[in-house]
Amino acid sequence: MSTAKNRVAVLHGVNFGVLEKRDPELYGGLSLSELEYRISGWAGEMGLEPIFFQSDSEAEFCGFLHRLDDTADAALLNAGAWTHYSRAIADALAVSGVPTVEVHLSDVDDREEWRKVSVFEGLVVEKIAGRGPEGYRDGLEVVSGLLGTKS
Ligand code: DQA
Repeated sequence: MSTAKNRVAVLHGVNFGVLEKRDPELYGGLSLSELEYRISGWAGEMGLEPIFFQSDSEAEFCGFLHRLDDTADAALLNAGAWTHYSRAIADALAVSGVPTVEVHLSDVDDREEWRKVSVFEGLVVEKIAGRGPEGYRDGLEVVSGLLGTKS
């Protein structure tokens, strides 16, 4: 069995399955598959192995987080609107014990007041927002530094 620690879970929450239908001004007009394709390319360059997961079901998402340490060595998390209110997902993330970077496509700190709140504060290594898809590359850089896959 390989001992390399290079598996990064890229987790998308509610409404990301219809990303291409959402406001292109905010979210860029990409589909989730297109976004994941870009993330795969960046991850490969950094020696990381991405594992993708998306769900609109909070229960399913919590279940995935409960088992995250079997699946991944680190994670990028964009939980969408859950970010701002789901204490259940925050508690599940705390159980996971996997270093996680929070990513948002849009600049959540420059939108409505309620989007400035993240229930993941204190649980994540870093929060990256407002960089569009490039924010995931930045997140992968952070993960790569943590796992030591940087060449
Ligand atoms: C988002 C920001 C959230 O406020 C919103 O509910 C989303 C997407 C982002 O990536 O910018 O669904 O997480």
